[in-house]
Amino acid sequence: MLNEKVIELLNAQVNKEFYSAYLYLQFANFYVDQGLSGFANWYKIQAQEERDHALLFIQYLQNNDVSVTLEAIDKPDAVLQNNMDPLKAGLKHEQYVTSLIHTIYDAAYAVKDFRTMQFLDWFVKEQGEEETNASDLIKKMELFGSDPKGLYMLDQELGGRVYSAPSLVL
Ligand code: FEO
Repeated sequence: MLNEKVIELLNAQVNKEFYSAYLYLQFANFYVDQGLSGFANWYKIQAQEERDHALLFIQYLQNNDVSVTLEAIDKPDAVLQNNMDPLKAGLKHEQYVTSLIHTIYDAAYAVKDFRTMQFLDWFVKEQGEEETNASDLIKKMELFGSDPKGLYMLDQELGGRVYSAPSLVL
């Protein structure tokens, strides 16, 4: 049986991951409006990954006989005015999500819940990759984004991203 605090945090994370998906759909919609379909593609796939994360938390709870509660998902609140805004908001959001994962890890560690710690190891690694991806995008935009040809090429590159299911199987 999982610890009550750990359960509460894992259940809350389901909502956070769905919110992340929603936020990234907001970014994708913004880029559609700007005519940047490659950036939109990149964030649509990112949204799919976040939905997968939510489903993994649900599956983990259910594998441990916990009944999952779904709460309302907040409206995405990012203020997007230029092509750089989603990228910076994305990095900030991933840093926040990393802090949430670490908080759950802390709670599991405190009660010697090694099973949950092992489950979360995948997310700790994933967060490292997501923060790197987010800051790489900012660097590329800083380098090439102010030149129309550079922006076009970058959009083409991001349009090539394809969805793949998470490597974690529960
Ligand atoms: Fe589910 Fe982007 O972390």
